[in-house]
Amino acid sequence: MRTDGYKVAVVGATGAVGNMMLNVLEKRDFPVREIVLLASGRSAGRSLAFKGKEYPVQELTESSFAGVEIGLFSAGGSISAKFAPIAAEAGCVVIDNTAHFRMDPDVPLVVPEVNAEAIAGYTTKNIIANPNCSTIQMVVALKPLHDAATIKRIVVSTYQSVSGTGKEAIEEMLVQSREMSTSIQWTRDDGVDKLWAGLAPFRTMSTEVYPHRIAFECLPHIDVFLENGYTKEEMKMVWETGKILDPAIKVTATTVRVPTFFGHSEAVNIETERKLTAVRARELLSNAPGVKVLDDPKKFEYPLTALAGGEYDTLVGRIREDESIANGLNMWVVSDNILKGAALNAVQIAEVLIEKYL
Ligand code: A2P
Repeated sequence: MRTDGYKVAVVGATGAVGNMMLNVLEKRDFPVREIVLLASGRSAGRSLAFKGKEYPVQELTESSFAGVEIGLFSAGGSISAKFAPIAAEAGCVVIDNTAHFRMDPDVPLVVPEVNAEAIAGYTTKNIIANPNCSTIQMVVALKPLHDAATIKRIVVSTYQSVSGTGKEAIEEMLVQSREMSTSIQWTRDDGVDKLWAGLAPFRTMSTEVYPHRIAFECLPHIDVFLENGYTKEEMKMVWETGKILDPAIKVTATTVRVPTFFGHSEAVNIETERKLTAVRARELLSNAPGVKVLDDPKKFEYPLTALAGGEYDTLVGRIREDESIANGLNMWVVSDNILKGAALNAVQIAEVLIEKYL
């Protein structure tokens, strides 16, 4: 580690994740010698606060990376596809939050609590990939259980917040929710047919970010549909879990966008080689890095997005044995998708990088 700190660039600094990256760098006191804030030409002229000072946002160009040692990228896959290799060529180690390089065999895909050692492979391309938000929280929770009992199969359903799509999606849900809540007049003295009639005009609301209204709705559709009928988000969970945790584990996923602002929730079912009781699983998870167990149903205690927001840990609860098979467990896993699912994980990778390699 260098004693004088590092020149760090945040690409997409004005976005939901980029902004949180700045916040996490500051909160964790990452040794920053110089910060470079990059975004599109639309944001040039804006400034953002970092460690109590305002810094100008600059337009991302091919010459943005002179002298930059670490680049945290979160401005979309096409931006990373073009600019990550340019930055890497200029000597910057890129930690990329997009899906673009994740399955490249020459690019490590890292969740520090699970496979920090993989970071060593960054030297081939000078790029390290940050996994998909839903994958990160799932593998953090499953790593200690896999080590103890060898997971054979995972069945996961996700309930993902709109912040995962970005600022425009947050705004779209707010605007739709306001419009619906003010225009639908209904009290508990009214019949439900009146509510149904009030909802009718919103069945075909015009939308910009999602193909359908997201307010008061669940969309079983995240990212694009692929030839096999799954969405790319679902297949990311399959591919990335194999690369990070163990390629022998079979994974099947259903990913759903739900009308929450922050935090992704997941119903996770696992089948293991050896029996794990719920009590033992709770014990293992209580001692695992990056995990907090919240599992006292009698007190209505279980993970919620409201509890996960701003938390570094992934919350795990509702841990119970799957009574339909010999060796199975069910659990509910919730994490802050912008923090552990993106910005925090990227900064944790940077921390290991400077600690061991730079
Ligand atoms: P800008 O704010 O200038 O559009 P989010 O995921 O929250 O929507 O944020 C996306 C981030 O990616 C923003 O910081 C956005 O900057 C940035 N971005 C989008 N397009 C480009 C581009 N062509 N060049 C650089 N940054 C971009």
